[in-house]
Amino acid sequence: MNKLKIGVLGCANIAKRSVIPAIKSIAEYDLVAIASRTQEKATSFALEFDCEAIEGYQNLLDRNDIDVIYMPLPTGLHEEWVMKALDAGKHILIEKSLAMNYDSAKRMVDLARQKGLLIMENFMFLYHGQHNFVKDLIAKGEIGELRCFRSSFGFPPLNKDNFRYNAAAGGGALLDAAAYTVRASQLFLGSDVWIEGATLNNLDAEVDLFGGAYLKSESGMFAEVAFGFDNFYQCNYEIWGSKGKIIAQRAFTPGENFTPTITLEKQGEIFDYKVDAENHFINILNEFKRCVLQKEVEAKYEEILNQSRLLQELRDKSKA
Ligand SMILES: NC(=O)c1ccc[n+]([C@@H]2O[C@H](COP(=O)([O-])OP(=O)(O)OC[C@H]3O[C@@H](n4cnc5c(N)ncnc54)[C@H](OP(=O)(O)O)[C@@H]3O)[C@@H](O)[C@H]2O)c1
Repeated sequence: MNKLKIGVLGCANIAKRSVIPAIKSIAEYDLVAIASRTQEKATSFALEFDCEAIEGYQNLLDRNDIDVIYMPLPTGLHEEWVMKALDAGKHILIEKSLAMNYDSAKRMVDLARQKGLLIMENFMFLYHGQHNFVKDLIAKGEIGELRCFRSSFGFPPLNKDNFRYNAAAGGGALLDAAAYTVRASQLFLGSDVWIEGATLNNLDAEVDLFGGAYLKSESGMFAEVAFGFDNFYQCNYEIWGSKGKIIAQRAFTPGENFTPTITLEKQGEIFDYKVDAENHFINILNEFKRCVLQKEVEAKYEEILNQSRLLQELRDKSKA
């Protein structure tokens, strides 16, 4: 099999910390180049990861020896650079959240569809085995019929120069922490859900800092999600059923050496299951590669559009 030749657009923390090391660990990927707005930054990343340094994102997109792009830019820059990358014929693994709003997501997906290119949001947590473990417990009837999904994802304040406090860059807790909880809700409620009520709070910032939402599904099951980055750290979900409850303690950010615990509570009994540690960044890169090679794009477009619709509804409901 030919290697997937990959280029990285932007010297982001998440790229350095997690995604580029994962790319380097997969034999079927060939990291060709990293682009930055500045030559200096590109050079320092390129030296660390043994690839070419490119100044300017467009110069990387113009390269014919690159098939796929990993794009860890702030959300506010996504539409411009996704459209340019698609025009250049590249498949894109993009950091969440893909879009500032639903219409923007639709424009990106429409062009990707027209070009037959993949766009996939980097919700790496979906590819950690702990969620399949939870699904297996549910399938075995351990908690009876599902009633409610609850999830919290939030962390303490960041440095004030972080793009997450900049509205034009796509900052705010909705497009960041909330995105995980809303995406996780769909794992257990399915995609046929809608936002019934929501709140977003800015305090004195130009972006939303924390909030919550109530989601409903056709099945009658519902979800309560809470999120923020002015919060005590939380990163979990629980599924409450007619006969028991399952808790995932570290639902979204288990490190590659972290052994997640899944807790099952039933009448008078509590079981703590240790699930295998995994690198979910490697897992999602493998899924991205599979989709590119098998030209399996439509399911990912649908996932993107449904997620963007829900985030849009959440923002709209918070104003109602
Ligand atoms: N999947 C995950 O686990 C995960 C975790 C954390 C973050 N993320 C997502 O990854 C993306 C990057 O997050 P991060 O925390 O790594 O951010 P970051 O370190 O601030 O990186 C963002 C990069 O975007 C480029 N950029 C271009 N224009 C910019 C602007 N106006 N302001 C700021 N940066 C600009 C910069 O690269 P150059 O200067 O090199 O051009 C910068 O290094 C976000 O979308 C975030 O939501 C995902």
